[in-house]
Amino acid sequence: MTAQSIPHHIAIVMDGNGRWANKRFLPRIAGHKQGVDVLKRCVKACDARGVRVLTVFAFSSENWKRPTDEVSGLMDLFAFALSREVPQLKADGVRLHFIGERQGLSARVLKSIDQAEAVTRENSSLTLNVCFNYGGRWDIVQAAEKLAAQGIAVTEPHMSQAMALSHVPDPDLVIRTGGELRISNFLLWQSAYSEFVFVDTLWPDFDDRALDSAIAEFSG
Ligand code: FPP
Repeated sequence: MTAQSIPHHIAIVMDGNGRWANKRFLPRIAGHKQGVDVLKRCVKACDARGVRVLTVFAFSSENWKRPTDEVSGLMDLFAFALSREVPQLKADGVRLHFIGERQGLSARVLKSIDQAEAVTRENSSLTLNVCFNYGGRWDIVQAAEKLAAQGIAVTEPHMSQAMALSHVPDPDLVIRTGGELRISNFLLWQSAYSEFVFVDTLWPDFDDRALDSAIAEFSG
């Protein structure tokens, strides 16, 4: 594969963790745990292929509607996974950014987010944007509010600068695993010109081959 055919920025809706667990008669959180391991491998695989930015949808504004034990399980997993993985991500040169609304997140989660961002601030190999308590509409509204508060005209370039992902170019490729053909309030503004690849593979089964085939579909 030539360097030109590798997307600079890949964004992923990591769907299918629950179904992966159900198929194995496991609690849904087991699917999310497997999902974290798969994300870890995916970060390495993207870096090895020359992808510079990876953005993942880890917790949507709508995910609060899930059963309380699944929400608290996801929060615990998130904080735990960050504390466990950040040293290796730091060593691998990965820079972490968290995108989303901070209001509503626990002090523990906020602390793990702040630490992960601080510890990896100097890194410059791959940028990993984790969308957490995120919604595409929220992002558009917060950008418009920011401009209004500063008395800046609402234009496309100004909006792009005020959006939560303004530190990276828009995604070239958006992948959704899990077989659903919808965008679910992910990167509504930034995916205007992206290529979309929808795969039936459940996120916990998404391996290097699945990544390569999504990239090949993008290149084609
Ligand atoms: C969607 O599957 C997946 C999620 C709501 C959570 C994804 C989160 C992770 C993989 C953890 C991220 C952690 C870090 C540290 C970045 P689903 O539950 O909607 O699956 P289903 O469609 O089969 O029910």
